[in-house]
Amino acid sequence: MGNRMDGKIVLVTGGASRPGIGAAVGERLAAEGATVVLSDVDLAGVEETARLIRENGGAASAVQHDVASQDDWERVIAELLAEYGRLDVLVNNAGILEVASVASDRAVPALRSQFDVNVVGSFIGTQAAVKAMRQSGGGSIINLSSVAGLVGFRGSASYAASKGAVKLFSKSVALEVAADNIRVNTVHPGIIRTNMQDQGAESNAENYEAIEAAIPAGRLGEPLDIANCVLFLASDESTYVTGAEFVVDGGYTAQ
Ligand SMILES: NC(=O)c1ccc[n+]([C@@H]2O[C@H](COP(=O)([O-])OP(=O)(O)OC[C@H]3O[C@@H](n4cnc5c(N)ncnc54)[C@H](O)[C@@H]3O)[C@@H](O)[C@H]2O)c1
Repeated sequence: MGNRMDGKIVLVTGGASRPGIGAAVGERLAAEGATVVLSDVDLAGVEETARLIRENGGAASAVQHDVASQDDWERVIAELLAEYGRLDVLVNNAGILEVASVASDRAVPALRSQFDVNVVGSFIGTQAAVKAMRQSGGGSIINLSSVAGLVGFRGSASYAASKGAVKLFSKSVALEVAADNIRVNTVHPGIIRTNMQDQGAESNAENYEAIEAAIPAGRLGEPLDIANCVLFLASDESTYVTGAEFVVDGGYTAQ
């Protein structure tokens, strides 16, 4: 156990999936001393993640939370503040991916549902965190975008639109809240071995093989690769970092 997150109160959304980025972030931050609240629509799944963290000596609890619902955000933040008195770090990790070709019948419904969760969910969360962090003198908000928020991906126009939106609203909010000592940054994972990626690979096998073959590092990413980047942004080691985008993709978008 380290101490890079000692005393910090953290909320991570989308913590049920294992292997998943949210669960890995929760584990990594708890291992550095954070008190972690994990949320997800899947209550049984997120309770299990929290239990596994506690089993390893970390401080973690779980709460049911649909990030697309403003009522849910109000309840989750109010309960967290009642219990711990403040919020130091929010990781807007919950997200959905639907591969849908632009001319398919699913293209527009997929656009709407991904915007609801990926964009509106992260946006409401950012808003709620800004209000809470202003009360306690500052904090760090970390929004999960994607390499699909940086470059184009065949078959993923609606997902890419949602992740591009996350990148740019985050930068704008960063400007608004920098003077309040609140930092807002985005993390852009490449292809990371999680349940989401398994679904994407099944529905879009041909493109996935080409993408995997083109990763300069020669391997897919692991959830821990992303959790280590989030740890830096969540800790006081990054107090001069805001409005920035962190690409963790084995070099995929460098070419
Ligand atoms: N895996 C990758 O390669 C990759 C790459 C780039 C970006 N990302 C992003 O990283 C984040 C995590 O991805 P992952 O691969 O761990 O995904 P995952 O599908 O494995 O896990 C996502 C979690 O979010 C939860 N969730 C979905 N909708 C929700 C909602 N409305 N409210 C609350 N929780 C909800 C799910 O139940 C699940 O537990 C996502 O934002 C994703 O878009 C992932």
